[in-house]
Amino acid sequence: MNRHLLSINDLTRDDIESVLATAAKDFLEVSRRDIKKVPTLRGRTIIDLFYEKSTRTSTSFELAGKRLSADVINVKADSSAVGKGESLKDTVLTLGAYRPDIIVIRHPHVGAAAFVARYTDAHVINAGDGKGEHPTQCLLDIFSLQQEFGGLEGLKVAIVGDVLHSRVARSNITGFQKMGMKVTLVAPPPLLPRGVEALGAEVTHSLDALEGVDVVYLLRMQKERHEGASFMPSLREYISRYCVGLKHLGKGQKVLHPGPINRGVEIEAELADSQENLILQQVEAGLAVRMSILYRIIVDSAAAAEEAAGEEPLAPETKNIRAVG
Ligand code: CP
Repeated sequence: MNRHLLSINDLTRDDIESVLATAAKDFLEVSRRDIKKVPTLRGRTIIDLFYEKSTRTSTSFELAGKRLSADVINVKADSSAVGKGESLKDTVLTLGAYRPDIIVIRHPHVGAAAFVARYTDAHVINAGDGKGEHPTQCLLDIFSLQQEFGGLEGLKVAIVGDVLHSRVARSNITGFQKMGMKVTLVAPPPLLPRGVEALGAEVTHSLDALEGVDVVYLLRMQKERHEGASFMPSLREYISRYCVGLKHLGKGQKVLHPGPINRGVEIEAELADSQENLILQQVEAGLAVRMSILYRIIVDSAAAAEEAAGEEPLAPETKNIRAVG
């Protein structure tokens, strides 16, 4: 891995396969044992800095750091000095005085993670920057698909919903194609970014496109980013045309959703409660994948530094990733 993880474009297909292989081999089973802790990052410090609401990303990064034995500090903007007017730059400079190894940042503005990387010596991981990118979500989605389907080469995926405001869509359109998947976007024209075809995906406006795909990836309507604008004549019309249920699925098709889900808007309750979706598998994958990312971002950088110094780097797998108990 590179020094930072700001965009899915920071990773080659080989990088993605390597990080996810570490997650599968070393970290998935840690969460399934009685003693869910390994000493891998003992003595390391991780700061999770969240300026936007989160359940999955914040808990999984916190748990990932703790299960790797790192010291983990969680800073939520709404209960920090941000509320007293402290800027992002000054917050990062302040937290940098603790000499953290990794800063995980979620922020409502595109480019915030890259901005943080300018003001810290720590590794920076983008946990979602506005409607920019969400690269760790992309990695856990690819991992979930690998667990379900094996190889991803040639799989067809339809990404359905509010693509315009979705950082997950931006990372996944690129990430899925890197893995050899064919991507189709399904959304009403106002909820598609202008020129999105340039990213290589097909674009349609009807759920008819679900016929023949292997994976249906649903997106939430991101009302908090609509800023009062209306992108559909009515929510009822959106639901009638784009809410996906079991009746839309063919044999063997699987449904993913990054969460949080809005039942009855983009996903029918019956589908949300069915075995046809991988939503909770994605959540479990998120923990293993984020453990792997935290581990690899430190170990790979250390190996690169050793190599630059003319020393023989240890392979990541030979480092200390065995259980505490
Ligand atoms: N998928 C995702 O980012 O969920 P949270 O907003 O709960 O972190």
